[in-house]
Formats: sequence, structure tokens, C-alpha cells
Amino acid sequence: MRTTIYDVQKMKQSGQPIPVLTCYDYTSAKILDSSGVPVLLVGDSLGMVVHGFESTLPVTLELMVHHCQAVARGAKNALIVIDLPFATYSATDSSLTLRSAARGLAEGGAQAVKIEGGARMAPAVASLVGAGIPVMGHIGLTPQSINQLGGYKVQGKDDPAKRRLLADALELESAGAFAIVLELVPSELAAQISERLKIPTIGIGAGKGCDGQVQVFHDVFGLYEDFVPKHTRRYTECAAAIRAAAKQYVADVAARKFPEK
Ligand code: KIV
Repeated sequence: MRTTIYDVQKMKQSGQPIPVLTCYDYTSAKILDSSGVPVLLVGDSLGMVVHGFESTLPVTLELMVHHCQAVARGAKNALIVIDLPFATYSATDSSLTLRSAARGLAEGGAQAVKIEGGARMAPAVASLVGAGIPVMGHIGLTPQSINQLGGYKVQGKDDPAKRRLLADALELESAGAFAIVLELVPSELAAQISERLKIPTIGIGAGKGCDGQVQVFHDVFGLYEDFVPKHTRRYTECAAAIRAAAKQYVADVAARKFPEK
């Protein structure tokens, strides 16, 4: 049975932490799904870790739908959340937002969408939820606004910024979001927001007081080598393992050891 948004909310109510991983393809989706990861995020981070862009801004809805379809073919149990990429949704254009989100569900095979932004996005969240589309919010460091934020840095450091983030979270909850990602938020603030909200918070670089944690596939499995975020933990070193195996393959072919007769 596929995880629902209500299962995720029940996990918060029963004090059970919610593990979330990003996922971008069929094979990885099958592995993660069979490992019991309850929520898979087809994140627009795929622009960086899969396609080699410098930010998430060049990611298109077509690309997101394409990857989401592959994940949906591989994951039969996890709740699949698709990121709506940069400029495919808006606080003021509900038909654009609805069209994009509908593609994520109808074509991509996701069960929910994620959009970045706080209180200003509350009308977009409300209109999506009104159309039957579950929404995960995303506040703190919102990578699609990197040019406005001036870099990948911790948000909510001073008192006004802390108050704004708490207000953002409460507005998104009131608008009907089923969960909210808190990215690069000081851990005390993230814990405080998590306590105030009825819906789960999913942290990334936001400490252990969040209701769940999300990490990028290529970070936790040691695949992405361009940079390693401070908040990640490498559970394995796939890049090193693949490199060693690839060298062995090259050597075996060169030495005519592969294939055997
Ligand atoms: O795109 C992504 O992977 C994300 C997570 C980092 C939350 O938005």
C-alpha cells in the first residue's frame, strides 16, 4: 500500500521520525522503495546532481515530469512528491500553478507537489489543495531564489528573520500544506517551528528537532563529488566504489580478461 499524506502526518502525531530521500530514476526508486523509504522527493536538485547545472534554475517542468515518470515506474509504496521547478508556479497566477502541478500528478505519476516560498505562496497552496493536489511547502534556504538570497547560506539568523520564518510556516499550514521542508534553518528555530505546527516539518540542515529529514541521494550515497554539504552524512562511497570497479573493467578488457570464453 502506498504511503499517503495522512500516513506521514500520523508519523508526526506518533512521534515517529519521517525519512525522506530524493530520487530521480527507475533503478534507484526500486532500491529505495524496497528499503522502506516512505517518501521520495523528485527534487529539482536533479538539475545539479544529475544534469550538472550550477543551480536548479535551468530545470524545466518537462525534465521534472520525465524523471518523475521513471521514479513512479520504480516506486510502488513510497509517497512520491515532485518539485515544481523555477517559474512554473506563482503566487498570483493560479492557472499556471494548477497546470504545472496537474502535469506532475497526471503525467509524472506523483501524489503531491512541493513549491518553494513562505506566506506569499499561501494563495497558491490553497488553490492547489482546493483542486485536490497535496502540497509540501519549502522555506528557509529556497534554492530557486538563490539570486535573491545571495548564496547558499543559513536563513533565519536574526530575530525578525526568525519571526518571518515562523509566520511563513504557520501561513503555509493554514493554507493546507501537508508538510513543510525547512532548509538551512538554525536548529533551535526549526525545533520551535516543528513544535508549533500540527503538520510535519522535514529538515535539511535544520537539526534534529524536525519531524523528518530529507537528504539528496547523491550526497548520502557518496556519488556527488563537486561539493559535500556540511549537513549530509555519507552512508556509503558509491563514487569511489564505481571508480575502482570501472578501472578494473578497463584493465580486464585491455588484458583480454573480460569477457571470458
Ligand atoms: O530539490 C531538492 O532536492 C530539494 C531538497 C533539498 C529538499 O528541494
